[in-house]
Amino acid sequence: MYLSRRLMLSLLGGVAVVSLIFALYQAAAEMHALRVEVERQAVVLAESQQKAAQQAIESGWPNEIQALVGQFQNHAQMAGLTIYGANGQALAMTPGLANRLGSDANATPPAVTRAMQSGTARGQFFHAKAGQMHILAVPLKADGRLLGALAVFHNVDFISAPVLRHALISVAQTLLIVGMTLLIVRWSLGRPLRHMAQWLRDLRTGDESVTHQPPEEEFFRPLTSEVTHLATSLHVARAAAKEEARLRDAASSRWTAERLGIVMRAKLNGSRLFAVSNREPYVHSRQGNSISWTVPPSGLVTALEPVLRASDGIWIAQATGDADKEAADEFGRLGVPPDHPQYTLRRVWLSNEEENGFYFGFANEGIWPLCHIAHTRPVFRSEDWDYYKSVNRKFAAVLLEEMEGEEQPIVLVQDYHFALLPRMIKERRPDARVAIFWHIPWPNPEAFGICPWQRDLLDGMLGADLIGFHIQAHCNNFLETVDRALESRIDWEHFAVNRREHLTTVRPYPISVAFNSNGHSGDASAAERASLYRELGGRPAFVGLGVDRVDYTKGIPERLRAIERLFELYPAYREKFTFIQIGAPSRTHIKRYQELMKEVVEETERINSRFRTRAWRPIVFLSRHHSHAEILPCYRDADVCLVTSLHDGMNLVAKEYIVSREDEQGVLVLSRFTGASHELVDALVVNPYDTEQLAQAIHTALTMPAEERRARMRRMRAAVRENNVYRWAGDLIGELASIRLEAPESRVVLLPLEKVGKGAA
Ligand code: G6P
Repeated sequence: MYLSRRLMLSLLGGVAVVSLIFALYQAAAEMHALRVEVERQAVVLAESQQKAAQQAIESGWPNEIQALVGQFQNHAQMAGLTIYGANGQALAMTPGLANRLGSDANATPPAVTRAMQSGTARGQFFHAKAGQMHILAVPLKADGRLLGALAVFHNVDFISAPVLRHALISVAQTLLIVGMTLLIVRWSLGRPLRHMAQWLRDLRTGDESVTHQPPEEEFFRPLTSEVTHLATSLHVARAAAKEEARLRDAASSRWTAERLGIVMRAKLNGSRLFAVSNREPYVHSRQGNSISWTVPPSGLVTALEPVLRASDGIWIAQATGDADKEAADEFGRLGVPPDHPQYTLRRVWLSNEEENGFYFGFANEGIWPLCHIAHTRPVFRSEDWDYYKSVNRKFAAVLLEEMEGEEQPIVLVQDYHFALLPRMIKERRPDARVAIFWHIPWPNPEAFGICPWQRDLLDGMLGADLIGFHIQAHCNNFLETVDRALESRIDWEHFAVNRREHLTTVRPYPISVAFNSNGHSGDASAAERASLYRELGGRPAFVGLGVDRVDYTKGIPERLRAIERLFELYPAYREKFTFIQIGAPSRTHIKRYQELMKEVVEETERINSRFRTRAWRPIVFLSRHHSHAEILPCYRDADVCLVTSLHDGMNLVAKEYIVSREDEQGVLVLSRFTGASHELVDALVVNPYDTEQLAQAIHTALTMPAEERRARMRRMRAAVRENNVYRWAGDLIGELASIRLEAPESRVVLLPLEKVGKGAA
């Protein structure tokens, strides 16, 4: 029963009182009307008999008097007549009336006395033996002399009948109304309420096996939408609490998104976090008439989101979506995540010229090949350098604007696109704690030294309080580069640079992925893969996988040549081993990237034409961007994953492959020139330039005993689980937040923003 007893009683009481008041009112009105009618009838009768009664008394004949009253026997409501003498004694009475009056029959009724005294008619209701009665007495006179009185008696018991009738109707009415109300309420609310209760119970108990949907009734909509939000938060909190409890139980120091959020809130101590990157965390694009948004597949977004959420931070990035403008306000700001805003994204728009000079030009044709030793010559154009400086200044201006009024803000600059930003910020806001994380390798001083603006870049970076690289080797290369290029003091013991009385700490923070084992199932891509296998004539005995942006640093042609060598060395793999290369086109405006794409396609065709048979080809090149959900089933299916970068800061494909292998199967072949190879020592570590070695490694992977495969994968999974992306963010931001700001007198002199970056000292 969903209506409480209290509610029912109130309903019952309320309806009963109202209906009773009505009933009483109606009964009173009806009784009044009946009384009036009885009085009227009595008056009419008395007046009609008054004359005859006078004459009968005057005649002195008792029989005549008796005859007069005797004719009024057996009338339904009229009880009878009595004629009284002047002394008040009854002279004649309708037979049977005395019986009705009972003991009062012989007494003179007060109405008779009053009528004779006053000389006018008098009436009265009274209680007699037979029940309620009414008497109307009129005086009888002859020539002004009082002869006596005539009294008319009526039975009036029937007058009280309406009270009972109305009371009964009122009770029946009350029961009917309450009953109907309960039935209607039960029918119209009971079912959805039961439904709602069931749904809430499922949410509360967290029983995911039951999939009750919320009630659809319009009436409940505001409630269901609120409860859905509540349930989502509850679900997340419950999962986090479970994980925390599990970790505590295992006495583990493992980082989770929630732990990161909690630790950051404490470390930031009210300071706001500002992140700057070239890539934005949410991209809005137009599809027909509607605007949709996506999260770019970026480890950076996974890592920084929980921190920005925890500090209600601001993320400044380049606008890249064709509907970015519509989705933001006039200043380019919007709350993100768009469906549940928790921090602010501030978009910055670049002109085509700016993007060409800053992004394609200086960042990707200059710094990228400069820092990756992959034997592609960096191109340094002074126009590109000018754009690089002006775009850095543009971002600095936006950042300074956003930081206005914020005390001791924490600034996290991302990557090689913004080498000049730390100094620009620090000069204007010495109270800010600034870090720059360099996501790509740092080469040795000789290699870096070919950059005409190396000192400006180093000086810009050294504005930061903290500089992060993936591995210690990159930190060492950086410190050596600074040592050679700039006047400064290197503190090798603490890995820090002291320049112009400003201290910059240089530390390794190996970036990683979130270790969420419950990844998407990626059904769509499983179907696509099934159709690919159908086209290939079924799943081959062995499947190899490569997942990369098509970039010359990734060693894709080297990988393909090693596969060719594998078929030469071990012909038994022909028709048994297929290598799937997922290659996302990247930076396609740049000539070197176009050439590389051409080279990869040609190499694939050349090798395929050498070995292919009617039903089989050795290499499948899927040249388009695939989402993480699409790649996941491929990771889970591949017997071997090849990461053969010629040089790579970290390489997250290697870690993603490991996370996806919940079955503890699969083998990772990993270039020793990746940052990841420093942690993943259980991979088959190779030199990608060594074709023979790489071919042999693939063979070793495909013939590795299951137990060894499992043992290696298990150890690598443990390493990634422990050193996940939340630890990366926690360590980096934690260290930045705890840096002590220098004394004000030791700070550098403020330069106008326009002058910053125009030539290093
Ligand atoms: C490297 C860089 C990142 C960059 C990514 C993709 O990993 O370190 O900053 O986002 O490549 O490159 P793109 O040029 O497409 O942003």
